[in-house]
Amino acid sequence: MLISMWKKLALVGLTATALVATAAEKPNVVIVATGGTIAGAGASTANSAVYQSAKVKVDQLIVAVPELTNVANVRGEQIFAIGSESFTNDRLLELGKRISALSKQADVDGIVITHGTDTLEETAYFLNLTVHTDKPIVVVGSMRPSTAMSADGVLNLYDAVVVAGSPDAKGKGVLVTMNDQIDSGRDITKAVNIKTSAFSSQWGPLGMVVEGKNYWFRAPVKRHTTQSEFDIDKINQLAPVEIVYAYGNVPPTLYEAAAAGGAKAIIHAGVGNGGMGKWLVPTLQNIRQQGVQIIRAARVPNGIVIRNADQPDDKYDWVVAHDLNPQKARILASIALTQTNSSQELQRIFWEY
Ligand code: DGL
Repeated sequence: MLISMWKKLALVGLTATALVATAAEKPNVVIVATGGTIAGAGASTANSAVYQSAKVKVDQLIVAVPELTNVANVRGEQIFAIGSESFTNDRLLELGKRISALSKQADVDGIVITHGTDTLEETAYFLNLTVHTDKPIVVVGSMRPSTAMSADGVLNLYDAVVVAGSPDAKGKGVLVTMNDQIDSGRDITKAVNIKTSAFSSQWGPLGMVVEGKNYWFRAPVKRHTTQSEFDIDKINQLAPVEIVYAYGNVPPTLYEAAAAGGAKAIIHAGVGNGGMGKWLVPTLQNIRQQGVQIIRAARVPNGIVIRNADQPDDKYDWVVAHDLNPQKARILASIALTQTNSSQELQRIFWEY
């Protein structure tokens, strides 16, 4: 029978572990588990891509890495056991409210969230925008299941607990630890779907975590957590926002369908600088006149969509997504539109967050 990496490590590590600090000296870190590959299991050690996610429970994850007890007093909570492609708005709200409640507890110094990598960037940005705390919140996943050779989940989790328990990680917004890097949950995106170096941030990582020590190089300047005007404790429903991916020959009917489906905003995942074919413009103007916000993002992975370049946004009363990719733009718009329906306000929010 295949023994998962988590179990093997538990067998070897428990005897090797030496406590380096007393419980009172160590930070209290809660690991909130949602599923994903970090809790995945495959049929053989050679299966790094074919496996089932969300099979291993959080208590097994913790027991399997006894080194965690050297750096923190750790306890686990299993909030979901899903692949992250199944995250919905309701799940985001439920997770956010739980993280907010935990962050208010005096006996919690930091929080780690284990998560599938596919939509990790959306959850991390959502929490970054809505949870009012300066305590470290770290979202972590892995690219290989726990049963695979060279599984990456153990070190990613260890790094996450180190960062979540570190006073120097306070006030930096929601963080992500993957592949020895510490990235901002705002900036990070899944850029490769098969390598352990799957994640990148267009403006670079904030730092590195190596052998249980953090090395910081920059800090986020966009509003987040304690400086955010959005508060998860007061949000009970997100606004419906849809994304339409542009390409040569994209039909206007896709945008019309999104509007007819009740979208309060449509994220146009545009070509180049959020651009579009001439034939789309009258349709998008018409949809805007019906009260639906049009937000120009780009399907190009890096760069900034410049207002009034490519399309006259002032004239059409459209919004640009700044440097946010379409899926992050959806998260921000679906929160912002719970509080305003003004395009000027929405644009301000896109500049500031
Ligand atoms: N289904 C994917 C998810 O939970 C597994 C991929 C992963 O976690 O890397 O996002």
